[in-house]
Amino acid sequence: MCVALLAGGKSGEREVSLAGAREAEMALVDNGYLVRRYDPATDLARLAEEASGIDVAFILLHGPLGEDGSIQGFLDLLGIPYQGSGLLGSALAMDKDLAKQLYRDAGLQVPAWEMARTADQSDPSRLLQGLSLPLVVKPVRQGSSLGMSIVDREEDLAPALVLAFNFDDQVMVEEFIVGRELTCGVLGNAELESLPVVEIIPGEEYRFFDYQAKYQAGASREICPAELPAGITAEVQRCARRAHRVLRLRGYSRTDMILAEKGLYVLETNTIPGMTPTSLLPQAAAAHGLSFGALVDRLIELALEDG
Ligand SMILES: Nc1ncnc2c1ncn2[C@@H]1O[C@H](COP(=O)(O)OP(=O)(O)O)[C@@H](O)[C@H]1O
Ligand SMILES: [Mg+2]
Repeated sequence: MCVALLAGGKSGEREVSLAGAREAEMALVDNGYLVRRYDPATDLARLAEEASGIDVAFILLHGPLGEDGSIQGFLDLLGIPYQGSGLLGSALAMDKDLAKQLYRDAGLQVPAWEMARTADQSDPSRLLQGLSLPLVVKPVRQGSSLGMSIVDREEDLAPALVLAFNFDDQVMVEEFIVGRELTCGVLGNAELESLPVVEIIPGEEYRFFDYQAKYQAGASREICPAELPAGITAEVQRCARRAHRVLRLRGYSRTDMILAEKGLYVLETNTIPGMTPTSLLPQAAAAHGLSFGALVDRLIELALEDG
């Protein structure tokens, strides 16, 4: 079977994508697949030309134009099945503003937030009327914490907005939630199973799970399965499945949450979670008895399933 491995791309997460692709390629080759590599930054025309010889695509792209439905729509046009969510689900999950509206409608708790306006960059006082410090400023359609800041003081809000607007023309401001950071993967199509919950503890020098804390080896501790009362674990897993369903996702996803005094808050859902063997979802799959190779195989199996 011929698998098109799509990695690289043009987003700020290009390097993360390429790192994951090396590992995924080895696993695919070990599993007996014939692997062809395509980098969407340069190889889209070749992908279209060679489409008839491809059985399935494995998309290892993160961020805009990779995780947001664009590539998914392109593969739909070419008639190539792929792992994970389709165009609509990918686009919804990538848009943190729309995703939060859907979570909230589904009864999931989300941090209070407001969309920023371009003019707020020069005078952000409007945003401080409905929300109180500390705040999190984030580009609406990004990943890997790119362009994000935590703002403790009023005077730091304007520069944080300017930074975020460099990454997207939509920016949101959220209340900062103090609590334990958890993430939970789900796997399946019609039947959805939750993976063990992972707790993330960024090193003391990190205020939150930022780009460095995410990718620098040893910067964060990841505990899987997270040490939580059984009832909380079940609730985290239920919320991950609920988030997956309301965003119309498929195959797999990983939802980031914070467990606070006031309960569990959903932050966002990743439709193409990191895929090195030490990434969060593969770690959780391993704790569930699925090796990295078996996980990759399972994702391809789900890609080829009807419905
Ligand atoms: N409202 C919030 N309160 C506290 N921490 C947050 C909040 N939003 C984001 N964070 C921190 O920033 C990290 C990245 O935010 P997230 O919404 O998951 O975006 P992404 O991972 O797509 O960049 C989270 O893992 C968490 O550490
Ligand atoms: Mg996240």
